[in-house]
Amino acid sequence: MPSRRRFEERSVIVTGAASGIGRETAVRFAREGALVTVADIDAEGARRTVEAITADGGAARACRTDVSDPDAVRAMVDGAAEAYGGPHVLHNNAYWAPLGRTVADTTLPEWDRTIDTTLKSVFLGCKYAIPRMVAAGGGVIVNTASTAGLVATPSFAAYMAAKGGVIALTRSVAFDYGKDGIRCNAVAPGLIRTPATDPVFRDRDRLDFLTDKLVLGHAGEPKDIAEAVLYLAGDESRFMTGQTIAVDGGRLIA
Ligand SMILES: NC(=O)c1ccc[n+]([C@@H]2O[C@H](COP(=O)([O-])OP(=O)(O)OC[C@H]3O[C@@H](n4cnc5c(N)ncnc54)[C@H](O)[C@@H]3O)[C@@H](O)[C@H]2O)c1
Repeated sequence: MPSRRRFEERSVIVTGAASGIGRETAVRFAREGALVTVADIDAEGARRTVEAITADGGAARACRTDVSDPDAVRAMVDGAAEAYGGPHVLHNNAYWAPLGRTVADTTLPEWDRTIDTTLKSVFLGCKYAIPRMVAAGGGVIVNTASTAGLVATPSFAAYMAAKGGVIALTRSVAFDYGKDGIRCNAVAPGLIRTPATDPVFRDRDRLDFLTDKLVLGHAGEPKDIAEAVLYLAGDESRFMTGQTIAVDGGRLIA
């Protein structure tokens, strides 16, 4: 007997879905019946994610979006609504940040780009999706935070600030819109093997330093995060809002 598909006919937007965690999450949403808007600034990568989804029998459309641009984010939300309805689920996941920068090392353009792509993007996604969700009687938002928004990590100043902001904004949205039927939660990944962390996996010393802090002793995979995102987006978590769940191999308890 076929198992129940949790997101049948749900219109789901995933940002940063051309790569890594976003791609895996988009693929899994589609496998569960969702109609997925694959949003990313990397149009070619987004197209490849859509190809993977359609090859798998799912439904998806690519949407080239710069998540730091208000007009682009509004168009992303409007386009998803026009093509697939909703949006019922918004997964704010895209980011950009320079590695290896303390506060003094961070240039102003790097600071601005990190905040714009990693934090303002979440504000914009919520800003444009929420009115549609309220009008429809509800919706779900899942933000990708990071353990770096909760504990210190070396030389990652702008990123830590942005992710701390994502966690606070998650609570704000949850608080203000709970009675409108909107839930907003975040997942905080620990070290996950993706194209973004490739340099870490090629640097034995840094990798040892980081994995040494993990209770489980090894990094995670995008599917580990995707599972948590689908849980937070689905009815199984219907009584949860404003939370940030760490999926981190035990990083935060060590
Ligand atoms: N990989 C990890 O270890 C790890 C740990 C903690 C948190 N995270 C978080 O997980 C999320 C996904 O990271 P990942 O590791 O899969 O990275 P990734 O580099 O594989 O994917 C990030 C995607 O964001 C897109 N992007 C960048 N700037 C954009 C913009 N302006 N507009 C739209 N899209 C843009 C990129 O094109 C890319 O496809 C991020 O929020 C990241 O902070 C990752």
